[in-house]
Amino acid sequence: MRVAVIGAGVIGLSTAQSIYEQYHSTVSPLTIEVYADRFTPLTTSDGAAGFWQPYLYDKGNVQETKWNKETFDYLLSWLNSPESVKMGVFLQSGYNIFTEPAPVSTFCFHVFSCIFNTVLHCNTTVSFNVSSFGWFNTALMVEGKSYLPWLMDWLQQRGVKFYNKKINSFKELSESGADVIINCTGVRSGELQPDPDLKPGRGQIIKVDAPWLKHWVITHNMKTGVYNSPYIIPGSRLVTVGGLFQLGNWSEQNNSADHKHMWEEACQLEPSLKHARIVEDWAGLRPVRSKVRLERETLQSGASTIEVIHNYGHGGFGLTIHRGCAQEAARLFGQIVQQKHKATKARL
Ligand SMILES: Cc1cc2nc3c(=O)[nH]c(=O)nc-3n(C[C@H](O)[C@H](O)[C@H](O)COP(=O)(O)OP(=O)(O)OC[C@H]3O[C@@H](n4cnc5c(N)ncnc54)[C@H](O)[C@@H]3O)c2cc1C
Ligand SMILES: *[C@@H]1O[C@H](CO)[C@@H](O)[C@H](O)[C@H]1NC(C)=O
Ligand SMILES: *[C@@H]1O[C@H](CO)[C@@H](O)[C@H](O)[C@H]1NC(C)=O
Ligand SMILES: *[C@@H]1O[C@H](CO)[C@@H](O)[C@H](O)[C@H]1NC(C)=O
Ligand SMILES: *[C@@H]1O[C@H](CO)[C@@H](O)[C@H](O)[C@H]1NC(C)=O
Ligand SMILES: *[C@@H]1O[C@H](CO)[C@@H](O)[C@H](O)[C@H]1NC(C)=O
Repeated sequence: MRVAVIGAGVIGLSTAQSIYEQYHSTVSPLTIEVYADRFTPLTTSDGAAGFWQPYLYDKGNVQETKWNKETFDYLLSWLNSPESVKMGVFLQSGYNIFTEPAPVSTFCFHVFSCIFNTVLHCNTTVSFNVSSFGWFNTALMVEGKSYLPWLMDWLQQRGVKFYNKKINSFKELSESGADVIINCTGVRSGELQPDPDLKPGRGQIIKVDAPWLKHWVITHNMKTGVYNSPYIIPGSRLVTVGGLFQLGNWSEQNNSADHKHMWEEACQLEPSLKHARIVEDWAGLRPVRSKVRLERETLQSGASTIEVIHNYGHGGFGLTIHRGCAQEAARLFGQIVQQKHKATKARL
């Protein structure tokens, strides 16, 4: 079997890893190739803060809730390993705060309360310069700038090959001999096959040097929408300050007006930021979709068929959900292997 994965963000690399883990001992030969026109440190996954947190309310999408939880459990299982440093995985606590009373998010019950049991309601007016409500909880961090190189090393050691190349059609890969194509192209997925449900959710962040900040603060504003109000997330080296969420804007340029607005709001929330040294700005596009597209598709190309597995549209939570989705994509791959196996037997 020859598998071609398109995309070297967290979704493409982790999907390649899950396929290897699940099938390298049973499918032989198994050739895995990764094609992308951007590799670490230039993908969206590298720019993200790397904060494990789903959107607050899952709106009944139990499948995504399950994938989030699987990712949490998986990352947690690495926490006490020496590898965790290389992976960029660590624990960090902080505040989810709201300008008006809001119910505790479902993920707190599904994930945190059973593991850490640290979910507390609090009135945080005392801690932050904003009259607010919310809770304090422990979260995982998985920083793309460490995690992506770790995944690439892991794959390279197991013979996975990487190609720096823009793919213009699925056909070009199938003609070069790929049996299965895995589509992990993030927000630009629409170039290969139109998907009106997929939109860019433009974000911009400011990285600062402020080592005295030890807790993250995420504000939630029901009026401006998800991640469109201030957040401050300390990382292993720098602190990420946001937030911005502009639906439909394809610009990956930093914008000075966005910078000014975010910085002023964040400094109001956490006045000590005024003493921080600003290191850099970064803008990126979240692959926004009503739900993650994770499914099989069999395409006809002349006389031959192309097996495709789509895995894209992870919005502002790609690192949070990646492993659950990768495992699911690998299971879909297993179905294709079985079908091809049966078809071959029938021919013999
Ligand atoms: C400001 C900001 C902050 C964020 N913070 C967080 C956070 O704290 N936690 C969290 O969970 N999520 C966060 N996210 C969301 C997260 O970054 C995304 O959900 C995630 O990176 C999506 O991963 P991906 O692998 O699908 O896409 P990407 O990382 O964008 O990778 C896409 C890959 O596909 C390749 N590609 C695309 N088209 C082609 C083609 N035609 N040919 C060849 N290659 C192609 C690209 O080269 C690239 O390698 C944030 C996003 C932004 C913008
Ligand atoms: C929150 O705390 C502030 C300061 O102590 C107080 O003025 C306010 O009434 C409190 N709000 C609630 C809802 O308890
Ligand atoms: C990958 O998915 C995207 C999003 O639907 C689509 O536009 C693109 O055509 C797909 N690529 C391939 C090679 O199928
Ligand atoms: C998109 O963002 C860019 C960069 O910030 C900005 O210049 C442009 O005006 C925005 N476009 C829209 C339609 O909002
Ligand atoms: C606290 O926030 C208010 C606006 O909500 C602002 O006027 C004030 O300057 C802030 N305080 C500090 C110390 O930044
Ligand atoms: C954004 O700003 C940073 C410096 O803060 C710079 O390194 C980067 O190139 C800028 N990106 C764009 C697209 O202008």
